[in-house]
Amino acid sequence: MPPDNPPIAETRAIEKFYAQPSGARVQVIAPTNLEIMPGSFTALLGPSGSGKSTLLRMLTGLVKPSAGQVLWHGEPLGLRQPDAAIVFQNFALFPWLTVLENVEAPLQARGVDAAKRKKNALKILDTVGLDGTEGAYPKELSGGMKQRVGFARALVVEPEVLFMDEPFSALDVLSVETLRNELLELWLGRKIPTKAIFLVTHNIEEAVLLADRIIVLGRNPGSIRTQFGVNLMHPRDRKAPEFTRLVDYIYKILTQPGELPPPPLRPSPETAQRAAEPPAPLPHTRPSTVAGFVEILLPRQSAQDIYVLADDLGMEVDDLLPIIDASVLLGFVRVNEGDIELTAAGRAFAEADIQDRKEQFREAIQEVPLLRRIRRGLEHQAKHELKDEFFLDVLEEHYTDKEAQRQLDTAVSWGRYAEIFDYDADSGKLWLTEPAENESVEA
Ligand SMILES: Nc1ncnc2c1ncn2[C@@H]1O[C@H](COP(=O)(O)OP(=O)(O)OP(=O)(O)O)[C@@H](O)[C@H]1O
Ligand SMILES: [Mg+2]
Repeated sequence: MPPDNPPIAETRAIEKFYAQPSGARVQVIAPTNLEIMPGSFTALLGPSGSGKSTLLRMLTGLVKPSAGQVLWHGEPLGLRQPDAAIVFQNFALFPWLTVLENVEAPLQARGVDAAKRKKNALKILDTVGLDGTEGAYPKELSGGMKQRVGFARALVVEPEVLFMDEPFSALDVLSVETLRNELLELWLGRKIPTKAIFLVTHNIEEAVLLADRIIVLGRNPGSIRTQFGVNLMHPRDRKAPEFTRLVDYIYKILTQPGELPPPPLRPSPETAQRAAEPPAPLPHTRPSTVAGFVEILLPRQSAQDIYVLADDLGMEVDDLLPIIDASVLLGFVRVNEGDIELTAAGRAFAEADIQDRKEQFREAIQEVPLLRRIRRGLEHQAKHELKDEFFLDVLEEHYTDKEAQRQLDTAVSWGRYAEIFDYDADSGKLWLTEPAENESVEA
């Protein structure tokens, strides 16, 4: 960790003991060190009673550790107040106050004058989609709306760190989905000035959907079993193999005491074998050609015979094949006994506007081995750039020099379209267009 990037908050060997009704002192949290870094979205997972809420309360100063220290910007709590706000599972709204008054309450507690209070509260209510409900009382609202008020009340103070303790577990499925997405939009779109998010949850999928860092607690006494980064692009697909592998891995950690299961990123012998094989060659087709092709298929309701289609388009089948291959590789069309039809992803791509297309294309090429290798290769470099020779050397082990160059050119055109990486032929440099996810954590 570079010294110019210190944690916002950290715990130094904090412990917690509680007295039982019997009088015995029970250790709830074993000495624990953790950090909240600027730019991070941390999820704290653990079984019931493992001490998740207790850790959150100690981090925010609501509960004092029995031993150890909580530091904010290097200073012990007590000497300074944490710049934090908390969203609770049960909303914890004041039933006798209106929505607006609930959201103004923390500002009032901080001594903000009435006019500014109202202005800021109305603004944040608008941000969380609650404009028009200012005068309502909590009991008039659905669970989802109540939690929006909970978010507004936390965000109105523009906390440096937003803490959440199971904020979605009391809500119906649909509200959960919507609220999670909206939270991500605020966070990833930098629509809130919050510098870090710390989410307590017992829902593994929720942690993998949202967080870029996951801490898993074990219990009796609560302690960190493991922590790791989640390097998946947003929006995350619950059905993607990387996603389900990570969910399975965490599930195993939570259900198997004792030794940790092997992390999912370590390749199995089978995938290691595959890694040694040449990456499947990319069909030499530009993304714009694929886009044009799926647009042509869109109005055609039934599966198309490839020969009839080529004839229709006035093309040779040989010229059409690489376009079809590319579309299949991207998951936009499927081919069955010489008939071709759009997949749901292909239909969505054909109907999307330019910006959405880029995102869908980015999603689609995650599974394309050569593109993934280039991206990984760049991500592992400190400056996120590499010379083309590096990739050409690898490709030349499998292809002629000319074909290796063509493969790289095609990969670059796909990577550029998806805005993942770019290439300058003069300097021979490839570089990541978007910061690597683990890097943005430290940004
Ligand atoms: N004020 C308290 N007095 C005594 N014991 C407590 C107190 N608060 C928590 N505990 C105990 O500490 C342990 C950890 O509780 P905590 O609420 O932090 O767990 P949790 O991981 O948040 O659980 P859950 O998933 O059920 O919310 C539990 O065994 C709980 O009974
Ligand atoms: Mg709890």
